[in-house]
Amino acid sequence: MSLLFEPLELRSVTLKNRIAMSPMCQYSCEGQDGQVNDWHLLHYPTRAVGGVGLIVVEATAVEERGRISPEDLGIWSDAHILGLRELAAKIKAHGAVAAIQLAHAGRKAGTARPWEGGKPLHAWTPVAPSALAFQEGWPIPQELDLAGLEGIQHAFQKAAWRAREAGFQVIELHMAHGYLLHSFLSPLSNRRTDKYGGSRENRMRFPLEVVEAVREIWPSELPLLVRVSATDWVEGGWTIEDTVAFAQELAKRGVDLLDCSSGGIVPGVKIPLGPGYQVPFAQKVRREAFLKTGAVGLITDPLQAEAILREGQADVVFLARALLAEPYWAYRAARTLGVGKAVWPHQYDRAFPG
Ligand SMILES: Cc1cc2nc3c(=O)[nH]c(=O)nc-3n(C[C@H](O)[C@H](O)[C@H](O)COP(=O)(O)O)c2cc1C
Repeated sequence: MSLLFEPLELRSVTLKNRIAMSPMCQYSCEGQDGQVNDWHLLHYPTRAVGGVGLIVVEATAVEERGRISPEDLGIWSDAHILGLRELAAKIKAHGAVAAIQLAHAGRKAGTARPWEGGKPLHAWTPVAPSALAFQEGWPIPQELDLAGLEGIQHAFQKAAWRAREAGFQVIELHMAHGYLLHSFLSPLSNRRTDKYGGSRENRMRFPLEVVEAVREIWPSELPLLVRVSATDWVEGGWTIEDTVAFAQELAKRGVDLLDCSSGGIVPGVKIPLGPGYQVPFAQKVRREAFLKTGAVGLITDPLQAEAILREGQADVVFLARALLAEPYWAYRAARTLGVGKAVWPHQYDRAFPG
């Protein structure tokens, strides 16, 4: 019996297996309009045909100024619903659960696509908890005032409503990698002196208010996920202990699973990369906050993925680059783990005799 191929129930939604496609920006919206196009309509459903249980569509901007790159997907207007609906429908039609990551890039917004250098474009002024640039040469963000915070909370809430209209079954809120909500959590980027800065409780306040606003509008039968950077990997930064405390608060507010990534708040940090290097974070949160977790980061091998689940370190494994390289990774995993029931569609049976 393989755990990787065991279904998982999250509220009323059943994932057919524990393989999730981690959110990955495609930087592919033509005309910088945030609209779904042919690329997205081929790229995501291909992984659904490939047997992935949960597909998390890339960081999708809840505000235009919250895009990482101008070519990011958007959900900041009702005009985005139609394209997103087609995308969600195709993902579901091929057997996967359709999730979308709602994101605001904060002070790291407005950069060129990675293959065009990834540098800040200085095309608009980003916003952040404090007027601190990510690094020299990057824009100094505008510090959000209370009306600004309310506007962003509202933008997340409206985005959640649009995600539902588009037919997504799961939302993941992006609170990792140095983007806006992470930058409230971390003392390295949040220097506020009002009730949204200072103590850990204060730094958690705005991200928790966003969760509450989203949970209010997101149907109670549908799961809500959060992605965090479980540690900043920096002395004086956000720590795994902070993450456990945060996870307890998220659980109280109806979050169903914490997707445990790390890093991204400041540049030049040494991260001890290696197979499954972030898995211990998922394990600690699962054991100490009693919240379901997703493990992510250099999970590439089916036996490794199976072991993470068997050892109770996580409930789901998120794969990113492995699924870019090998959309049909799940077929290989099924054969490696001796899963009897074919995970590939019958149309492909003759490729896997015996
Ligand atoms: C091309 C690319 C785009 C990414 N975009 C996002 C994103 O939109 N949201 C996010 O939370 N993480 C993003 N990530 C991070 C991945 O989701 C994942 O956490 C990371 O790549 C580590 O997993 P891996 O070792 O399986 O690739 C991106 C990674 C890649 C390679």
